Formats: sequence, structure tokens, C-alpha cells
Amino acid sequence: MIKRILITGGAGFIGSNFVRFVLNKTDYSIVILDALTYAGNTENIAEYLTDERCTFIKGRIEDNEIIRRICTEYDIEGIINFAAETHVDRSIMDPTPFVLSNVMGTVSLLNMARELNLRYVQISTDEVYGSLGNDGLFTEYTPIQPTSPYSASKASADHFVMSFVHTYGVNASITRCSNNYGAMQFPEKLIPLMILNAMEDKALPVYGDGLNVRDWIHVDDHNSAVWSVYKSGKKGEVYNIGASSEQNNITVVKMILKALNKSESLIQYVKDRPGHDRRYAIDATKIRTELNWKPEITFDEGLSSTIEWYCNNMEWCNNVRSGEYRNYYEKHYKQ
Ligand SMILES: NC(=O)c1ccc[n+]([C@@H]2O[C@H](COP(=O)([O-])OP(=O)(O)OC[C@H]3O[C@@H](n4cnc5c(N)ncnc54)[C@H](O)[C@@H]3O)[C@@H](O)[C@H]2O)c1
Repeated sequence: MIKRILITGGAGFIGSNFVRFVLNKTDYSIVILDALTYAGNTENIAEYLTDERCTFIKGRIEDNEIIRRICTEYDIEGIINFAAETHVDRSIMDPTPFVLSNVMGTVSLLNMARELNLRYVQISTDEVYGSLGNDGLFTEYTPIQPTSPYSASKASADHFVMSFVHTYGVNASITRCSNNYGAMQFPEKLIPLMILNAMEDKALPVYGDGLNVRDWIHVDDHNSAVWSVYKSGKKGEVYNIGASSEQNNITVVKMILKALNKSESLIQYVKDRPGHDRRYAIDATKIRTELNWKPEITFDEGLSSTIEWYCNNMEWCNNVRSGEYRNYYEKHYKQ
């Protein structure tokens, strides 16, 4: 019997890497639902579109009818929800699309999981915990204290997931991962933006003093963890995902410049983002011990393979950057 899952947001950065993971490492078939916003790119999954185990449908997760049709026609076993508006700076400019996709969209998927008794995994983020001081780590028991419209919308979605578990008994789990990097990440996010600017000898805009700390994880490690949670995670549980790889932004930028043999004079400090969280760091003990998951890729290895991927895929980069990205970039960084 065919086992099939619905992967939402499968044309985005993490979702498209997850599509590759599922098709290469499992015997599952998939339906991908993606609205193809500025961040969704079918080039990311082009090689799978002709695979008989893969069906792609363009549509929005808030659209109840399309979700119902997919889940019934394709006999879906479970939903893994990657679809979201994800860029903090965009959420500061306009929070409304974040409420529609991240909150309303999650509720519409949960309604279907409830009605059809489906397994459900919500891909959340460590940003729902807010910011850490110099010490400590986020655990699953850290209070939810979102600080940006993006993280507020993700936190709200998490509360709906838990409410569906407790009120209706939906078999749902939540993952909260730290910052991802890897191939096919849209070049508005730190690592690809810095790689591409450095390759082209453009200024590398670094927020504030550059000392904000993020706990980096390679996208492939994130995705193996998501699969463990889908298969073995318990109903109503949250699983933090991280690779214990804290780096401040300026260190990451300098590592990229060094790898590309470029001068640090390209670094340009710019006005800090409003409410910029200072430090995120994940305690992933629970998923390591309960689900026996562990990350496989060190930050040094992962960063160098990511830089190599961008160098070898300039056509992908140019196609992405010829769209809305450029207008957004001008508007955002022109000062
Ligand atoms: N990137 C990270 O570092 C990170 C870390 C932790 C958690 N996450 C979470 O992982 C998920 C994926 O993140 P990403 O970095 O791949 O994002 P992304 O912006 O690259 O991709 C998001 C995808 O969702 C699609 N989408 C957006 N709104 C939609 C809607 N209403 N209906 C259907 N599709 C829609 C977009 O077209 C795009 O393909 C998000 O839920 C995000 O909150 C990301």
C-alpha cells in the first residue's frame, strides 16, 4: 500500500530539501502544496516533478477546499507543515500576510487533520522563545515570548496546535529548530546574502555590532530530525532541534570572506533591526535522548559545502535575484 504525506511549503528552502530527503531516504510518496510566494521556487524541486512518487500542487494552506481535496483524493497519512511567511524584516514591514499564512493556514490544516484523523507535524521555530542573555539555552519548557510579528505568528500557530491536541485529540507534534543554512536558501537570509555579495565584491551589510548570536544547523540535519518526529514523536510533545553550534554574525561573515578569499573591508555595519533578538541557543537533549536523533554535519563542513553550492549554482542565484528579491533588497538596504 502506498504511504503518502502532504508537505506544505515544499518549494521553499527547508521544504524543498525535505522533499529530496523523503524521496531519497524513505519509501513514502508525497504531495507538495505551495503557494509559490516570492520565496517558493519550483526550480528547487524541478528534478522531482516528473517522479511518480511526487505530485506538486500550487495553492494556499488557508484554502480549506484544496486541503480537503488533496487529503481525500491522495489518501494522505499525515501533514508536515513547512509553509509560512518566514522573513522577520518583512514581518516588521507588514505583519498581515504572516497572520494569514502562519496562523490561519495552520488552523485550516489542523481542521483537516482533525476531521480525517491525520498525523500532523508543525514546523515551528526557536524564535517563539524570544531572546536569551549571554547564558542559558532554550528548552521545551522555556516560556513562549515572541518579539517580532513573525515569531508572534509562529507562536500563535503553536498554541493552536496544542489546543487541537487537547481539545480534539489531534495527533500533532511541534518542532522548534534553530537557524538553518544550506543549499537553496533564498538570498535575503544572512548566509546566502553574504556569500553572494562577497562573490560579487559588494558590501556585506551587518546589523548593529554584528555580535548577535545564532545557533546554526545544516538543513539536512534539521530534516532528519523532522522525519524522526513525524515517525516517532509523541502526540502533544514539542521537540527542540539544534546542533549546538553558536556563532555570532560577524564571525560567520568573516568565515565566508576567508573561504572566498575576499577582504574584510567589504563588511559594512548598518543600523540594527528594531527589536533584534540578541542570542538564540537550543538545548536538544529531548530529541537526542527520546528519539535517538543527532546532527551529522559540523558548522565548518556545512558552511564550506554551502559556499560551494552557491558558487556552482549561479544560474539558480541569478534566476532568484532577477525577481522581486531585487526590489525588496533596494527598498530595505538602500539607506
Ligand atoms: N529558515 C530557518 O532558519 C528556520 C528555522 C526554524 C524554523 N523554520 C521554519 O521552517 C519553515 C520553512 O522555512 P524556510 O526557511 O524554508 O522558508 P521559505 O520562506 O524559504 O519557504 C516557505 C515556503 O512556504 C510557501 N508559502 C508561504 N505561505 C504559504 C501559504 N499560505 N500557503 C502555501 N505555501 C506558502 C512559500 O511559497 C515557500 O515556498 C517555516 O515554517 C519556518 O518558520 C525556519
